[in-house]
Amino acid sequence: RINSPMIVVSNRLPFILKRNQDGVLERHHSAGGLVTAVAPVVIANRGTWVGWPGIQMNSESEAIPEASADDKSPTSGLKSEQVECVTVAKELFDPYYNGCCNGTFWPLMHSMPDRAVFSAETYDAYRKVNEVFAQRTVMALKKCLAKLDAEGHMDVAPLVWIHDYQLMLAATMVRRACEEEGLRCKMSFFHHIPFPAWDIMRLFPWDDEILEGILGCDLVGFHIDDYCINFLDCCQRRLGCRVDRTRFLLELDGRTIHVKSLPIGIPYDHFAEMGRSAPKILKEKNQKIILGVDRLDYTKGLVNRVKAFERLLEKHPEHVEKVTFFQVAVPSRQDVKEYQQLKEEMDQLIGRINGRFSKPNWSPIRYIFGCISQEQLSAFYRDSAVAIVTPLRDGMNLVAKEFVACQDLSDPGVLMLSPFAGAGGTMQEALIVNPYELDDVAEKMHRALEMPFDERLLRMKHLQRREKLNDVNFWVSSFLQAMGMLPCDLNNNA
Ligand code: UDP
Ligand code: G6P
Repeated sequence: RINSPMIVVSNRLPFILKRNQDGVLERHHSAGGLVTAVAPVVIANRGTWVGWPGIQMNSESEAIPEASADDKSPTSGLKSEQVECVTVAKELFDPYYNGCCNGTFWPLMHSMPDRAVFSAETYDAYRKVNEVFAQRTVMALKKCLAKLDAEGHMDVAPLVWIHDYQLMLAATMVRRACEEEGLRCKMSFFHHIPFPAWDIMRLFPWDDEILEGILGCDLVGFHIDDYCINFLDCCQRRLGCRVDRTRFLLELDGRTIHVKSLPIGIPYDHFAEMGRSAPKILKEKNQKIILGVDRLDYTKGLVNRVKAFERLLEKHPEHVEKVTFFQVAVPSRQDVKEYQQLKEEMDQLIGRINGRFSKPNWSPIRYIFGCISQEQLSAFYRDSAVAIVTPLRDGMNLVAKEFVACQDLSDPGVLMLSPFAGAGGTMQEALIVNPYELDDVAEKMHRALEMPFDERLLRMKHLQRREKLNDVNFWVSSFLQAMGMLPCDLNNNA
């Protein structure tokens, strides 16, 4: 519990709204570390969550349903009055979300500029939608301040916490409104994906506006130091900000902005418990599983991974009929061309490899194009010999951490991890592998499958210890402490 109410702003609300057959809106739980960690803080402090419900609402005033009585998710305690639902017409939302967020910023921030489309039109939609989010945030802030003032808490400033690349302009828009209307708040931004180097960021024609947009905050958080350094560098070179690279501070218009690396964790104990209790799903006897779990996204390195598995079967035929590669690919952003093309490429590649190697009772690759629950996922994590997490670039990657939490130390699995994921920087006991080097990926798959028990145990014990300490609750309390909202002793388990 903190003293100040928190207003969280993210593109998606912490639940999804769907209409049932009678056209009535229902809440559906959306899984994710951010929701698990932040929703309890918002609920306990009478805060608000501002976001898009994942559906076109009938009108701005359409009521948000309360959680159903049997809802056990972390957001069930979030009352409808604590939700500011952002509604944007489809004609504006599409160019904002599919066009600018996922057609421009997603590839750019992942240092894949050749995939990025730069368009004044979609960027204009991005500006307008950020303005809508900012207005809803200011509305929530005013309600919050009215309550605080009525209770005599004139000295308490609510905390506005804006999330991710979809809302990089919102902070400055909120700040401007606060200055004009004399509203008090503290503001922070957390960027959940990589922040690229200056020579990538500068390709975006309106990069100065984006940097200034983020700098509306008092604190800007990233997962790792490298992203902080890239951001500081961009602000210095593009905006001429004075930058302190040792203390990660910068100055703009007489204000000091703190930049901090705050690596996100997972709800570790929850996953460990699911790993212990989830019923067995993988029934194959004498079969080892190599597991991949990702949104179907070109940043995740899925094509390289499948090709590397083909090389494993070519170079080490002893694994034929003994090992299955199990890939869960969650459909994502299917209105964007790059994602449609990737789906086709994967279907063809997997079809070709299965056609080439399959035996009457064995197929080398099993592929689920769909989303499964985290309970089921925990059983897959626990029962797989190897998890392969080899993105070409990734802000953090929670799957790597969830796999670790679910391992049973009587027969631990092996984590293969790309150095280009944020997680690759701290999870050093994983088998680190460059996803572009296909032969090495194949050799490391072989090594992981053959790794002796003692080595697997040693690696996994270290990984588990670190992830348990640095779980998602630690992330939230570190963030609140960095905002001056918590006493220091809450942060001592680092
Ligand atoms: N996930 C899930 N069901 C699935 C596949 C993934 O619930 O079928 C969850 C997974 O447990 C993890 C998240 O999706 O919490 C993926 O997060 P990650 O950081 O790995 O990648 P992102 O999708 O955010 O890029
Ligand atoms: C990443 C981003 C999130 C985003 C999620 C799913 O984790 O950092 O901001 O919500 O992917 O993508 P979607 O486009 O479906 O929201």
